[in-house]
Amino acid sequence: MRTQPPARSELEAIETASRDELTALQIVRLKQTLNHAYRQVRAYRKIFDEAGVHPDELEELSDLARFPFTAKDDLRKAYPFGMFAVPRTQLVRVHASSGTTGKPTVVGYTQGDIDTWTALMMRSIRAAGGRAGDIMHNAYGYGLFTGGLGLHYGAERLGCTTVPVSGGMTERQVQLIEDFKPDIIAATPSYMLAIGDEFERQGLDARETALRIGLHGAEPWTEAMREEIEERFDIDALNVYGLSEVLGPGIAAECIESKDGLTLWEDHFYPEIVDPGTGEVLPDGEIGELLLTTLTKEGLPMIRYRTRDLTRLLPPSARSMRRCARITGRSDDMMIIHGVNVFPTTIEALILEQEALSPHYVLELRKKNRLDDLTVVVEARPELWGSGEAAMSAKGQALQHHIKAMIGITTTVKVVPEGSVERSAGKAQRVIDLRE
Ligand code: DLL
Repeated sequence: MRTQPPARSELEAIETASRDELTALQIVRLKQTLNHAYRQVRAYRKIFDEAGVHPDELEELSDLARFPFTAKDDLRKAYPFGMFAVPRTQLVRVHASSGTTGKPTVVGYTQGDIDTWTALMMRSIRAAGGRAGDIMHNAYGYGLFTGGLGLHYGAERLGCTTVPVSGGMTERQVQLIEDFKPDIIAATPSYMLAIGDEFERQGLDARETALRIGLHGAEPWTEAMREEIEERFDIDALNVYGLSEVLGPGIAAECIESKDGLTLWEDHFYPEIVDPGTGEVLPDGEIGELLLTTLTKEGLPMIRYRTRDLTRLLPPSARSMRRCARITGRSDDMMIIHGVNVFPTTIEALILEQEALSPHYVLELRKKNRLDDLTVVVEARPELWGSGEAAMSAKGQALQHHIKAMIGITTTVKVVPEGSVERSAGKAQRVIDLRE
């Protein structure tokens, strides 16, 4: 550990409260939220009535399982402002996420929501070992995406000198890291690697910067990727999770003292894990889809929101709240190759076990004889490219065998030189779907 954890006295009382206190708070807040949503949002009234449930029927947390789910589609149908639980004039901010098809999803915040978000993001940065007086270089995109502004407000509230660089212009990122000497960097894991490459390109040693902590999220990444980032930058790389429909970044964050998954800020969100197929609630420890219910949101309360993110709930460790394990992927990103369910992160972990291969990769999906066919396009480590084409193709074959042995699918692996895989300044697009 390169950085000290916060002292217990620096934490909010609720972060170390007993489970009973936390549960009592969750019940009060959950009742308020269900009533608020039912009274103020026509769409909730309709789906609750259709399901034959009323907010007054909730007595225990487990009663929530009787209430209907909400999904991204509900927000789309209500586009742009139809799901809001307060008059539009009380919203001080909107964000939006670009949909793959059609209209974006719009989310809105009251001043109270912005204050909650700021407090949770501050808590998340502090959990990662950030403290007042640190400089934070924020390379998450500013704009409709929640990453940039979400981290920004939290860092300011913690008392950090915040550098709002946003994503892109990677040469300048390196220059500012060299000149301003930030302690903390916030970026997607894939963009962090692109910044690392730029250090190398400029002949600079990324391990020699003042950076101590990386705050990485907004896309699935693996333990192997964490090791890669920590090694290249000599920092502690911590996971931070969130989604705009529920809040933005700061729903769950990893604590520096344990680095064992995402502590979910349960005083503001109630998590459930369900079987993605049947919707049945699963016990803690089992992998399934994460549902989140907001407990304090005013502008856009979310009840049993289907995140599509696959994970499992783990017992509390560094805080009183439960954790969720590293997100394996989104159910929408799951590929079915010859009958086997495959996530990009599964392939990423195997790539990083091969010394010759870099973490820059894309997965191309095609149809061959009516079956889905997967090609892994991965860059060689630049220092090894020179060893010749035959050597490179042998490295590709080694990965091909490894994938076959570990997950049982036949793939084609193409090893390409550095710079062949497109870099993104934000979320990396890992899967390129070339099927008709
Ligand atoms: O990505 C919020 C965010 C910004 C989180 C900065 C962390 C840091 P959206 O654009 O709405 O919001 O995308 C949300 O991204 O449902 C997950 O599928 C994925 N995601 C976010 N954080 C993680 C993470 C932001 N730590 C979607 N690990 C979510 C894996 C993540 N996936």
